[in-house]
Amino acid sequence: MTHTTAQPGRPSRAATARPTVILTGVQPTGDLHLGNYIGAIRPLADLAVDLTRDVYVFVADLHALNSRPDPAVLRERSRRLVAALLACGLDRPNVHVYRQSRVPQVAGMAALLSNVAAKGLLNRAHAYKAAVAANVAAGRDPDHGVNMGLYSYPVLMAADILALDADEVPVGADQAQHLEIAVDLAQQFSRSYRSAVLREPRALIAQPTATLPGLDGRKMSKSYGNAISLMAEPDDMRKQIRRIVTDSTPPEHPKDPETCTLVALLRALADRGTVAAVEERYRTGGIGYGEVKARLADAIDAHVAPMRNRYQRLLTDPAELDARLGKGEQHACQRADRTLARTVVAMGL
Ligand code: TRP
Repeated sequence: MTHTTAQPGRPSRAATARPTVILTGVQPTGDLHLGNYIGAIRPLADLAVDLTRDVYVFVADLHALNSRPDPAVLRERSRRLVAALLACGLDRPNVHVYRQSRVPQVAGMAALLSNVAAKGLLNRAHAYKAAVAANVAAGRDPDHGVNMGLYSYPVLMAADILALDADEVPVGADQAQHLEIAVDLAQQFSRSYRSAVLREPRALIAQPTATLPGLDGRKMSKSYGNAISLMAEPDDMRKQIRRIVTDSTPPEHPKDPETCTLVALLRALADRGTVAAVEERYRTGGIGYGEVKARLADAIDAHVAPMRNRYQRLLTDPAELDARLGKGEQHACQRADRTLARTVVAMGL
């Protein structure tokens, strides 16, 4: 129902222009790694450079509860994640950083949406299906260890998006189904209540080129144990880089830059000149992996050092961190309040 042609008597598109609202959430499962930064955080910060966009980015701490983390650990991870987000280019006036749990309207929206979400739809959600499959394979009850937090994860995620009235939701490919469910619930709602109370979000799915290889050449991922941590101290970071797996081609031999993990990482983080020079020496021969690793470490350090400094300053200044969060949370609550009020009325409450 988007109108592309101006209608007589209606304000033109330009006159009604409002910011595009971009929203995404990050689970506080552990410290961010370079893959998270290159694949998700940096692209989000790039989007936020355009001031006609309003960006909402939150720590999905309610979602994290389904794996029942230790409370002190969860609290600490959330704090570190907030500090990391703010340090990575998201400390801007048009970016609102908040903890999901501090915007109670989201939980309220989830309660309302659960009446619109068919149980059969949630039965087909990947995370739940994977848990059931693992149980069946192990000869256990299919729902062994499955709590309602895991089962209704997609409903809470839809609530995150719909309560904040988001236009666009950048996510990794693994979240595509969750976005489809959010769109589905918005449509269901409109059919049931004949109203356009909830905005249908658009998924911005990350390109596969946005994924970074890890130490072993597979996609960098916490669960593969092949990640390079983003905020590691310089010495630790260098140690991690020395562990990157390469083949045994001797320095003087030509090598293929296209298949080398080191080059892929350099391309994501080093300046063009450095990348071009290294690629050239791969083709002609005459560069050893040890030297490339040292160059890579220098490039990462140059890129990350200012962010790491800001991160550490924020972590040692809880008042500053709380002040930033307070602003983001107030802003998010106000926006979610408006959507929730409309939703409640539409449903007859
Ligand atoms: N499920 C997402 C992930 O694990 C995190 C998330 C929660 C999210 N709510 C969201 C992402 C809403 C985008 C929009 O990566």
